[in-house]
Amino acid sequence: MEFTFVMIKPDGVQRGLIGEVIGRFEKKGLVLRGLKVINVERSFAETHYADLSAKRFFNDLVDYIISGPVVAMVWEGRGVIATARNLIGATNPAESAPGTIRGDYAVHISRNVIHGSDTVENARKEIAMWFPEGTITWNSCIDPWIY
Ligand code: TYD
Repeated sequence: MEFTFVMIKPDGVQRGLIGEVIGRFEKKGLVLRGLKVINVERSFAETHYADLSAKRFFNDLVDYIISGPVVAMVWEGRGVIATARNLIGATNPAESAPGTIRGDYAVHISRNVIHGSDTVENARKEIAMWFPEGTITWNSCIDPWIY
């Protein structure tokens, strides 16, 4: 099984989209392995987005991520990294397909509601960083109906 890191960004939290986002992941058949609401420090947000530190939008991005609570989650499933990215939609909500989270709930790239890891390596890094306490294990009784 694969794991991915997903974060509902401050705009998603403040707009009341937590339940909507979690509902879409649950109904898809993914399994929740970790969940918390937190405020992150500037240095933590900078580390999370370190790959983008040379981009002109980096400071605005960090300001946005630390502007309010975020919901950090770990989801499990077969091919969950790609599946989550498909549920989330393209980075720029102007181009995200209707039916995706960004396609349905966002209009601007700098307020795109949600983050999902893009590779196995980044998922591993982000889960270790956001959930140093580890994630929980449970045997889902619905697995035989999903796979
Ligand atoms: P990126 O990792 O490229 O996209 P994704 O979140 O889809 O993996 O970029 C990280 C975030 O940076 C993105 O979700 C929104 C923000 N961003 C901007 O504000 N402006 C931009 O031009 C880009 C490319 C990203």
